[in-house]
Amino acid sequence: MPTTSKVKAIPLRLSEDDARLLRERAGKAGLSMNAYARRALVGLNGGAEATCAPSIEGADDTPLMAPPVPFPPAFRKTFRWAWEDGPDALVNAGRHVLLRGIQGGGKTQWALGTAQRLGRPFYTFTCHAGVTSETVEGGYMPFVSGGQVIVRAVDGLLTSAIRQAAIPPGAVLNVEEITRMDGDLQGRFLSALDPKRGVFDVVYRRGAVPVPDGFLCLATGNPVGQEFKGVGDIDNALLRRFAVFDVPDPTEAELTTFAKTLALPKDVRDPLVKTAATSYEKYRSGETDNVVSPGDMAMFADSLAGGAPERTAFFAVIANKFCNRETPDDARKYREGMWEDYTGRKPVVVPVPEGGAA
Ligand SMILES: Nc1ncnc2c1ncn2[C@@H]1O[C@H](COP(=O)(O)OP(=O)(O)OP(=O)(O)O)[C@@H](O)[C@H]1O
Ligand SMILES: [Mg+2]
Repeated sequence: MPTTSKVKAIPLRLSEDDARLLRERAGKAGLSMNAYARRALVGLNGGAEATCAPSIEGADDTPLMAPPVPFPPAFRKTFRWAWEDGPDALVNAGRHVLLRGIQGGGKTQWALGTAQRLGRPFYTFTCHAGVTSETVEGGYMPFVSGGQVIVRAVDGLLTSAIRQAAIPPGAVLNVEEITRMDGDLQGRFLSALDPKRGVFDVVYRRGAVPVPDGFLCLATGNPVGQEFKGVGDIDNALLRRFAVFDVPDPTEAELTTFAKTLALPKDVRDPLVKTAATSYEKYRSGETDNVVSPGDMAMFADSLAGGAPERTAFFAVIANKFCNRETPDDARKYREGMWEDYTGRKPVVVPVPEGGAA
């Protein structure tokens, strides 16, 4: 970050150990040593710009490349669309990324993996009707304290992530299923995601927070979806703030390699891979039946191995279709629509206090 004329540069000489540590951290954040030190100062200053900035002896303003922290091996090697070449390159170029693709295609795992790789705190929410401007921006919330109801200002996830991002190595905000975001709420993101990293107007506090370079938004969405809107229906103003990355189709050979990392018997593996290989095309054309994604394969393997917490009707369909492993009891329960009882869980009744909850 160039030092503006108003900011006084304070020369700083570091010990060898401190310099090594700073280089390492700046590298992880993809910043120059000076920019990192300056950002740390801004963070300590509660997000406000400092009037002075350290100028470290022997360091220049060239950003250091983040050392690649590998994704889990299955993600790195299984598919041709190696993440490093695709969405990672966009993140490294400083773009917010919207990943779109088949359900169970690894989008969420990638977002989480990216935050871990960058060592950044991870804020996440899934878009649905209950997500409001309070969830996103913040608002005044009631709390019970000492027998009284008090009202406090509480920042929402977007505001919190932007504030946190001022402290190196920054922060990641993961917006899941962005295609389901309410139209009015989409506007709330426009200033926060401005490519020029301006200020985010926190209306409920009547203030503004600078959006630091360390703020990264990773969104996921499905290109098509039954009654839900597809990515194409997102407001253009919001869409243009993202680099949109389509998860490419893996080949059958790549899916076979991936399937081999899973605990699947061979007679199950081959038909699953065949179906998965044709699923991407089916999915894009709007067909959602008989679509098997890598995530489905992984969950299915888990359930065969007894590792999944519960089996679902979906697994029963796959089991029936590919392996003939369905038990007569499975078939009966599926037919009779008794799957809610299948795990034997009893409904939990939460009593509502008289007069309603505060
Ligand atoms: N490329 C891949 N390499 C290895 N595992 C994968 C890959 N893609 C998906 N998986 C497996 O699928 C699981 C589910 O992936 P994830 O939840 O990230 O999918 P998603 O695209 O976010 O799905 P949805 O659209 O339903 O939210 C992962 O935990 C992982 O086990
Ligand atoms: Mg997901």
